[in-house]
Amino acid sequence: MEKVHILDHPLLQHKLSILRDETTGVKDFRQVVSEIATLMCYEATRDLPMEEVEIKTPICSGKFKTIAGKKLAIVPVLRAGLGMVDGILTLIPSAKVGHIGLYRDPNTLEPVEYYCKMPSDIAEREVIVLDPMLATGGSASAAIQFIKNYGVKHVKLMNILAAPEGIARVHKDHPDVDIYCAAVDEGLNEHGYIVPGLGDAGDRIFGTK
Ligand code: PRP
Ligand code: URA
Repeated sequence: MEKVHILDHPLLQHKLSILRDETTGVKDFRQVVSEIATLMCYEATRDLPMEEVEIKTPICSGKFKTIAGKKLAIVPVLRAGLGMVDGILTLIPSAKVGHIGLYRDPNTLEPVEYYCKMPSDIAEREVIVLDPMLATGGSASAAIQFIKNYGVKHVKLMNILAAPEGIARVHKDHPDVDIYCAAVDEGLNEHGYIVPGLGDAGDRIFGTK
């Protein structure tokens, strides 16, 4: 499971516990989702290739590191993935943003696509898919496949909370994709919700329900 990166930094764990708490209201939930995305972005971009460029400081010239070549795009899975966008753009303001609209049919738990809009040069970019929840993995797997169909070669998946079932599904369908998450919970209940989880991420971010 070297493709699964569980980010157990104390700040992330503390903030995740705030999300889990059913008394956390919409404003704080939204704020903390964004903060978690920023912290996770720091780790998920750890392997970006570097190059040395010539820079003149006020004292002298020298060769110094900058991020090389590969450009990034982030693709939130609507709706809940939208809550992670600002947190990522805080660190990577020049990232382009694609959108995939998927909802999970409550009866079949299968993902249904209703929207897709990608940057025109998406094929040349490294893509990070954003979705707070990886439950059965159906939505993430479908989202990754849509993105690969555009010719994208490097895809990462960033979830706040994952179930073992979702990790196994993505790992099986897309063994090349690295998954970053703050915790892996026990499993799913009969409605496909992560246990103990944090409830319905989209509803808690947007205040629906
Ligand atoms: C949630 C979540 C994921 C999906 C995870 O979205 O944000 O996209 O469920 O479940 P899965 O791993 O079993 O596919 P939902 O379908 O509730 O839509 P929403 O974001 O619009 O609320
Ligand atoms: N989607 C959510 O928002 N929460 C879950 O626990 C599972 C899927």
